[in-house]
Amino acid sequence: MAKRQSHYSLIIAALIVSFSSVLAARQPHVVFILADDFGWYDVGYHGSEIKTPNLDKLSATGVRLENYYVQPLCTPSRNQLMTGRYQIHTGMQHQIIWPCQPYCVPLDEKMLPQLMKEAGYATHMVGKWHLGMYKKDCLPTRRGFDSFFGYLTGSEDYYSHFRCSPIHALNLTRCALDLREGEEVASGYKGDYSTELLSQRAISIIAKHNPNKPLFLYTALQAVHSPLQVPERYVAPYSFIKDPHRRLYAGMVSAMDEAVGNITLALQQAGLWDNTVLVFSTDNGGQTLTGGSNWPLRGRKWSLWEGGVRGVAFVTSPLLKQPGTISHELIHISDWLPTLVGLAGGSTNATKPLDGFNVWSTISKGFASPRLELLHNIDPLYIDIAPCPGTKRQLTLAQVVSGDSRANSGFNVSIHAAIRSSNWKLLTGYPGCDVWFPQPGHNGSVKVDPLKPIMLFDIEKDPEERNEVSAQFPAVVDYLLTRLQHYQKSASPIIFPDDDPRCDPGPTGAWGPWA
Ligand SMILES: *[C@@H]1O[C@H](CO)[C@@H](O)[C@H](O)[C@H]1NC(C)=O
Ligand SMILES: *[C@@H]1O[C@H](CO)[C@@H](O)[C@H](O)[C@H]1NC(C)=O
Ligand SMILES: *[C@@H]1O[C@H](CO)[C@@H](O)[C@H](O)[C@H]1NC(C)=O
Repeated sequence: MAKRQSHYSLIIAALIVSFSSVLAARQPHVVFILADDFGWYDVGYHGSEIKTPNLDKLSATGVRLENYYVQPLCTPSRNQLMTGRYQIHTGMQHQIIWPCQPYCVPLDEKMLPQLMKEAGYATHMVGKWHLGMYKKDCLPTRRGFDSFFGYLTGSEDYYSHFRCSPIHALNLTRCALDLREGEEVASGYKGDYSTELLSQRAISIIAKHNPNKPLFLYTALQAVHSPLQVPERYVAPYSFIKDPHRRLYAGMVSAMDEAVGNITLALQQAGLWDNTVLVFSTDNGGQTLTGGSNWPLRGRKWSLWEGGVRGVAFVTSPLLKQPGTISHELIHISDWLPTLVGLAGGSTNATKPLDGFNVWSTISKGFASPRLELLHNIDPLYIDIAPCPGTKRQLTLAQVVSGDSRANSGFNVSIHAAIRSSNWKLLTGYPGCDVWFPQPGHNGSVKVDPLKPIMLFDIEKDPEERNEVSAQFPAVVDYLLTRLQHYQKSASPIIFPDDDPRCDPGPTGAWGPWA
């Protein structure tokens, strides 16, 4: 009898073990690849002269997101990805975090990796952080990632991993290493090309991963942000591109495409692929000053025009119910947090109020998006620091004042802001560099149009923002101004502190926490 009982308990124990491993197996591995400054016209499947066979193939067997939005800049997009909240709600509506600014994503914001970890995931990050690092509590390893290999700021050299940045308070420019293994400075990688270095690290995490535990791997590649640096072999196929910036940039895109292919292959070889959801997304529109293109969209990175915010993205996975489709549903980078935590079977109960939606049924099954509205941003301090071709494009005070007569909503239309609601997009203030840059390889000067303090476009019919229709649809304008005013009332005060001279790593140090 005793023997029998122990048999039973063994069977029950075995059942419990296999049941829980079935449960665990149902949680998909999530691999998120974020590209930097990758423009709308820089992916093969948008007709680019740049070849991206891996992105084309992976997206063709997945779901291409063609009505997908990001923020116009690095820190803001990453901030919304990691918190599921609009940047007006984290005080980060203005610009990026510069290396010496003493702030980070507020520490009371719960981040995506924390939620994935709570759901039982191993959480790893490779690549660019750019969400603040002035003190250790801001680092990726303190915000939910089990491991981190990458850099904390932006714009560094692809080989030396040095970042040069002015320190205004000290009246000097400092060049120092920005590469870390966990919280420690990683000095042994000089000469290793970033795109290869980061993808190889992602691959080694995949190869070492215990397949019984769900994996969350966030790979934020340096590619294809400036500086324009790439091994010659990637540029060789592009001798037909005359513009030297575009040619180097094309090579950088090819290296990135190969990196994505390599990561996918590693997932297959590790036996993880059948239960993996892979997301590829850019962080913002392309930078035309350094080879990127968003043609035929208007504007570029750092602007609220479609060229700044409409992003290249796709999801690929054997778990998709309708693979091989194109989604025209409205999706935003803040939607990934609830979507991925939902896939993980986790909970968003402990986050602050989310602005993102769980869009998994939209992506996987083609259901209508739960998102009907999208706040692109409201930034009362906006300035465009990069040169924009054409005449001086800032709005004059007289233009703003004449626009004020419309503003019975209470929203100050001199403020840089944009909002989308179904097919409509309203922009106020100066949206940033507003020109239509010509298609790469084609002659033609940049085109400009007069700006107004309030501009309305039907984005579904007019994605190039050529036909301004605020005069024809005053009720739509009034409604959207009311929505902007509603959002502005909920905004947190802007956090954008002066440089702290204590950030200085000195002539031999590395960028990193100082406070
Ligand atoms: C800043 O440094 C430059 C060159 O090193 C020098 O010419 C200039 O006077 C300095 N400015 C101040 C305010 O110290
Ligand atoms: C992709 O993998 C191949 C084969 O291992 C390697 O030669 C190549 O450098 C890798 N590419 C990148 C961008 O890491
Ligand atoms: C989250 O909140 C919902 C609704 O209040 C509740 O049903 C659920 O159990 C909560 N989940 C967790 C993990 O706390």
